[in-house]
Amino acid sequence: MNKKYEDPPLLKIAFVLNGKALELEIKPWETVLAVLRNQLGLMGTKEGCGIGECGACTILVDGRAVNSCLMLGPQLDHKSVETVEGLSTGDTLHPIQEAFLSTGAIQCGYCTPGMLLSTKALLDKSPRPRREEIIESLSGNLCRCTGYIQIIEAVDLAARLCAVDRSDEH
Ligand code: FES
Ligand code: FES
Repeated sequence: MNKKYEDPPLLKIAFVLNGKALELEIKPWETVLAVLRNQLGLMGTKEGCGIGECGACTILVDGRAVNSCLMLGPQLDHKSVETVEGLSTGDTLHPIQEAFLSTGAIQCGYCTPGMLLSTKALLDKSPRPRREEIIESLSGNLCRCTGYIQIIEAVDLAARLCAVDRSDEH
């Protein structure tokens, strides 16, 4: 006898995305990466491996860098999420973006959104990281183009630019 299985019902979640409160009905089996790209049209978060190995899909959830390909949509409920689309303010790039551009740390750019968010997670908790800390914090983000040297320089420059920004605020 053929048994017909039905999809489970959609699930309503509420979370904050790049500073804006959002309510969404999602398929509970979909990943956060799929929700961001397919449902919300935010294509900045990239899919590389899809199995937690490359870091291209990195976003911040409650300030922590996570692989969005390994997280299910329902886990976003009541969380605060930052994606690469939330970094700039209008036409003004975030200092981390400026630093990546000016050091040549971007070539094909596929790894870049994940690199930027891992960098933000690092600098939010450690504003002047040592080189070893930078290397450790980016160890989950793979880049096939740059050889990493420019990326490490970019994070170091970003730390200095963010410090200037903070002193300008006072
Ligand atoms: S796509 Fe998520 S870690 Fe590679
Ligand atoms: S710039 Fe191409 S993968 Fe990093």
